[in-house]
Amino acid sequence: MTDGMHPDVPKLPDFLDDAVVAAWSASGAPLVDLLRQVHTPGRLTGFRRGGRAAVLVTDPRHVHQVLGVGGDRYVKRSHRARPLIGDGMLTATGEAWRSQRRLLQAMFTGRGIQRWEHHIAAAADRVVGRWAERARRGEPTDIAEDVQFFTVDTIWRSLTDRPLDQETYVDLAAVQDIVAALPADVGGAAALPSEVETALAALDERMHRAIAEARGRRTADGAPDGDAPGDGAPGSGASGDGAPGGGASGSGPSVLDRLLGAAETDPAYTDRLIRDELVTLLVAGYESSARTLTWAFVLLDRHPEVMERAAGDARAVEAVLSETLRLYPTGWLLPRQAVADETLDGLRIPAGTDLLVCPYLTHRDPEVWPDPEAFVPERFPVRTPLPPGAYLPFGIGPRACLGTRFAMREMEVLLGGLLARFTVETTAPVGEPVFGINLRPAGPLYARVRERP
Ligand code: HEM
Repeated sequence: MTDGMHPDVPKLPDFLDDAVVAAWSASGAPLVDLLRQVHTPGRLTGFRRGGRAAVLVTDPRHVHQVLGVGGDRYVKRSHRARPLIGDGMLTATGEAWRSQRRLLQAMFTGRGIQRWEHHIAAAADRVVGRWAERARRGEPTDIAEDVQFFTVDTIWRSLTDRPLDQETYVDLAAVQDIVAALPADVGGAAALPSEVETALAALDERMHRAIAEARGRRTADGAPDGDAPGDGAPGSGASGDGAPGGGASGSGPSVLDRLLGAAETDPAYTDRLIRDELVTLLVAGYESSARTLTWAFVLLDRHPEVMERAAGDARAVEAVLSETLRLYPTGWLLPRQAVADETLDGLRIPAGTDLLVCPYLTHRDPEVWPDPEAFVPERFPVRTPLPPGAYLPFGIGPRACLGTRFAMREMEVLLGGLLARFTVETTAPVGEPVFGINLRPAGPLYARVRERP
């Protein structure tokens, strides 16, 4: 025994014939094709890639073991988005992550999210206005672009308390080119192409300017109410947590204010870390929501009867979003690494093994979801509680999404607002799913929108 485990515990099963992986690798097919091929419902499947051991995790029980109860033992291998998001909350680990998360948690959970309502409403009004204009002129619109502008606008307003202008939008939305240039799955980051480096520099400048402006406002006006260090800690009470008062728009401090407040007492919050946290929230906060909204329109376009039912019905809109997230969880692959030797489902997992949790495959488990490939929003809200680990569009366990409530709320407001007022008909076929860092539909989504009578 070299790994110090009991010899009776069997080693990972089903290490595939390396030839299978080699054939997949030579084919240039995306990782999802290999995962689909090796996927055995109810079982862990191991394979070796580039000399590293990997395990595909799809069964809800195993998902729960790895992300839920084992959340501290199976950690993120922080790497692939690091050139972009640095040491922000998404890649941070250990005590640094814990304290970063604690600082912002209360702004995004419980009553804390009420502070974002007016930002979400203002950003949604802009899209409704744009569609009204398109409808009047009889011009098609690109839904993928419209919802992306919306989600960048909501997150930018929440970060800085300022509406998004077109110039800033261009610099911020370039993060998708940067993300696309990063390796699409676990592994080391290669050097970035020069145009990506340029986009990264423009983004950095934008962030540092926002930091300098917010700092200037703090000096001129005094710190907004409720951004005292520790105010963001869970259980720190209601002070400044969604309560009106402070902030340029009277809704409590922005995320940037909270970070600048922390920097006054905690030397860990350098401008570099503040920049990283802003970019992290931008990246985590706009892409997934934008792609989910686009997927929702793709699915509704294929099911006009569902679209009609959802018009003016908030509960139906929520169900559409939940079902969209089941079929197309934008975080389709959540990689982890075993810190130490582990036993999972009675099998030995040596330290250093990659565990590839795959919500996309888990969400299509016929044991949990009858007729799993079908779009059936009526599944939600679920009548009988699901097994833990069976539905995880926002992840589960300690590293679950910080922005779950924010995302659901902004998507409900926009989708509900648009469906209540417009009919939507796509004018071009929708591209295939792209399994990159996010799961997104390829290309634009052109549609004709009309005011409802
Ligand atoms: C439909 C929209 C969204 C989806 C599907 C989504 C999904 C996810 C998932 C699956 C994770 C866990 C990743 C993992 O376990 O490896 C995650 C983490 C995270 N999300 Fe979201 N997200 C969405 C929107 C947002 C928004 C709007 C924000 C910010 C306001 C946000 C901020 C974060 C952050 C900061 C993390 C990292 C949390 C941590 O590591 O402690 N997300 N998200």
